[in-house]
Amino acid sequence: MSRIVFKTFDLVHIEEAIRLVSHYYQEEKNEVSELPSFFDYQQNLAKHLKSLVVNQLGIVAIEDDIVIGFISGFSIPSFFGKEKGIFIPVYGHAAIQSRRCEIEQRLYVEAAKKWVNDGIYTHSIAIFAHDKDLNNMWFHLGFGNRCIDAIRQIQSHDTTNPLYQFEEITSQNVHSVVSIHEKHHRYYRESPIFMPNQNEDALLDLLDWLKDSSHRMFSIKTNDQVVGYIRYQTNGESLFSIHNHMRNITGLYVLPEFRNFAIGEALLNFVENVLYEEKISLLGVDYESINPKANHFWSKHFKPYTYSLVRRIDERIRDVE
Ligand SMILES: CC(C)(COP(=O)(O)OP(=O)(O)OC[C@H]1O[C@@H](n2cnc3c(N)ncnc32)[C@H](O)[C@@H]1OP(=O)(O)O)[C@@H](O)C(=O)NCCC(=O)NCCS
Repeated sequence: MSRIVFKTFDLVHIEEAIRLVSHYYQEEKNEVSELPSFFDYQQNLAKHLKSLVVNQLGIVAIEDDIVIGFISGFSIPSFFGKEKGIFIPVYGHAAIQSRRCEIEQRLYVEAAKKWVNDGIYTHSIAIFAHDKDLNNMWFHLGFGNRCIDAIRQIQSHDTTNPLYQFEEITSQNVHSVVSIHEKHHRYYRESPIFMPNQNEDALLDLLDWLKDSSHRMFSIKTNDQVVGYIRYQTNGESLFSIHNHMRNITGLYVLPEFRNFAIGEALLNFVENVLYEEKISLLGVDYESINPKANHFWSKHFKPYTYSLVRRIDERIRDVE
């Protein structure tokens, strides 16, 4: 008979939580050697975990006075729909390695009870990409993939091709990419992505993004026509994308009629050359796995290291409780 007791995730559990996460990270690093050392994230991780304690949505599993697992996330007002949701980051859950599936499943049963009682119907969890057993466990609990974090080592490339010209985009020449930026924004509404992003003023959005000096954007022209762009910034969305030696791609678009001519690859190589000169060694990206073009393109060039899975609970359960 198991003596596991479940308690609310609290500040006193953070040290043990970090230790458990470090084992998961090391297992992933064994598969994706490009990932930086866990040590580099430790301080930031403690800060992030403290912010997860505040909302009281987390649960720890304790056995014989030892923390053997935990799960916790950020609540989000309307998450992939009109209902409230929770996002459990990749560092927001872990259990002792040898019993991780059993313990994480029991943690989810406890936590989901609490979340659904609080009206939290959309559950999303990021997991390390190479842990097949945990992938399988979450799949059978009704979760499907939606987003991927991936990484690659920066190399220098020969990008000389007389057909293409690259140009850095600033507030001075931003007009050259406004219409393409608008198309990119609308692209995510199409099948099978169906992302209901709001209308926006493309010019204002670009100008706002360019205000940050660590944000850089480059266009590619052929026959005097801008046919694509790429952009990167220092921080990506996930904790493990924030690192001194890393930059993150946060946009890539090629006009439909110019796709599959390796223009996407040329833009990527161009950015790598820029970063290589600046002695930056790692490049990260996050993308929607529900976007087949992105999924194919990025998984060809990068190594995935996290998957963000989603399960949507039938909200009519509240009417029968
Ligand atoms: C992703 C994108 C930038 C790639 O640009 P591109 O210039 O076509 O890229 P490349 O020509 O270098 O490579 C395209 C590859 O994807 C393949 N491909 C394109 N669409 C595909 C699909 N739906 N399913 C499978 N493979 C696909 C091509 O065959 C080619 O593969 P190959 O190199 O193995 O032959 C472009 O498709 C695009 O703008 N998509 C819409 C915006 C987008 O999704 N951006 C990524 C945001 S994270």
